[in-house]
Amino acid sequence: MTPSKELTNMADLVSLSKQRGFIFPSSEIYGGIGSCWDYGPLGVALKLNIKDSWWRAMTDRDDVEGVDASILMHPRVWEASGHVEGFVDPLVDCKTCKGRFRADKLEHASCGKKPSKNPGKTEECQLTEARNFNLMFKTNMGPLEDSSSIVYLRPETAQGIFVNFDNVQKTARQKIPFGIAQIGKAFRNEITPGNFIFRTREFEQMEMQFFVKPGTDMEWFEKWKQTRIDWHLSNGLRRSKLRFHQHGPTELAHYARAAFDVEYEFPIGWQEIEGIHNRSDFDLRRHQEFSGKKCEYFDEASKEKYLPFVIETSVGCDRALLAVLCDAYRIEGEGEEARTVLKLSPKLAPYKVAVFPLMKKPDLLEFTDKVYADMKKNFRATYDESGSIGKRYRRQDEIGTPYCVTIDYDGLADGTVTVRERDSMTQERVSATQLVAYIQNKMSGWKAE
Ligand code: GAP
Repeated sequence: MTPSKELTNMADLVSLSKQRGFIFPSSEIYGGIGSCWDYGPLGVALKLNIKDSWWRAMTDRDDVEGVDASILMHPRVWEASGHVEGFVDPLVDCKTCKGRFRADKLEHASCGKKPSKNPGKTEECQLTEARNFNLMFKTNMGPLEDSSSIVYLRPETAQGIFVNFDNVQKTARQKIPFGIAQIGKAFRNEITPGNFIFRTREFEQMEMQFFVKPGTDMEWFEKWKQTRIDWHLSNGLRRSKLRFHQHGPTELAHYARAAFDVEYEFPIGWQEIEGIHNRSDFDLRRHQEFSGKKCEYFDEASKEKYLPFVIETSVGCDRALLAVLCDAYRIEGEGEEARTVLKLSPKLAPYKVAVFPLMKKPDLLEFTDKVYADMKKNFRATYDESGSIGKRYRRQDEIGTPYCVTIDYDGLADGTVTVRERDSMTQERVSATQLVAYIQNKMSGWKAE
């Protein structure tokens, strides 16, 4: 069997992502800006596929509706949600190196003067007392820059769902239990962002709030836990790399009654990619109190009126994407023969098929054009005619294209093409007229290794 190495150093993925057009440092020509990243042509395609996978998993259900709320919301929303008061991290400064660190994560930080040591662990370090730092970005709405015009960039998408609970329930004529799903940007002025796109100050969330009758909440909590782990598996993540972490009483967020994280084993260790929370009626109760508007639900059948409990599933799109890339990354073989390959699920791969003419000869190109046009009608496909076929395979391996189709002279004679599979590197001759069905069949039978 070919020896295969997994990703052990995030820097290798950062480098591949930049070279192949998945992810670039933001504002790179100006030297970059801390913790912001831009998705390139392949990155944006992968991200859209992840969002599509999530959106379908949520809204193909009859009991989940979608919304797209604005990023800027009434400032009272964030008072009601508890973010103005409580969305804080403990911050310490080092008077010597001028570094700023999260007081509760010093064991993961490096001293500015002696990077091999943690802050506070050298004689030179002079750490201040911890003080609370609010993670919300503030800005002003309108031409006046005073305290009356302050608005926040939302730190989570969830509140746009809570404030629309009544609008959606009534217009979509949903009955409890039902959910509302949303994908959108969120912003947090993290003290210590880092590890590529793992912790950034601007990121995308895919959140769903499921409104249930009090008393049925833990039953739904368990159902959603299972549904969500199944979704990560459906994206090709290996089961051995996923686990649940239950929040203990000191870890629970201010709104949560019970919480589990879905964790993935990154090269930096086990880390959260998704949170599943039982938020009780905390948010609707607070919005009712702060807005003066009723947020209760009236159950026509039982004639009961109550504030629903909420089960929330909240996954970072960028973090899910990072897990997908880390999981797919392999180096197979050794020396000259080594290849870097992204074993992405075909469902998520930016291109499903690459089409190559063996040579740039008019008769081959004519047949290739026909095959390529047929592929593009059915899949996201790409074309490459430069370099040896071996080099072209390697280029597609690095960006995770699961199937490469080569057109040669035998094919001109009998109407066949060669299909090469990314994962096994096996090749098969297939009739061009059967190619779409062949690839569809391969894609639906794909399994993570
Ligand atoms: N509405 C609940 C909520 O926002 P959270 O655990 O703070 O819960 C949910 O965030 C998910 O959002 C996390 O599991 C993670 O995937 C993603 N996330 C949070 N902060 C992030 C950051 N700074 N950078 C990238 N993703 C982040």
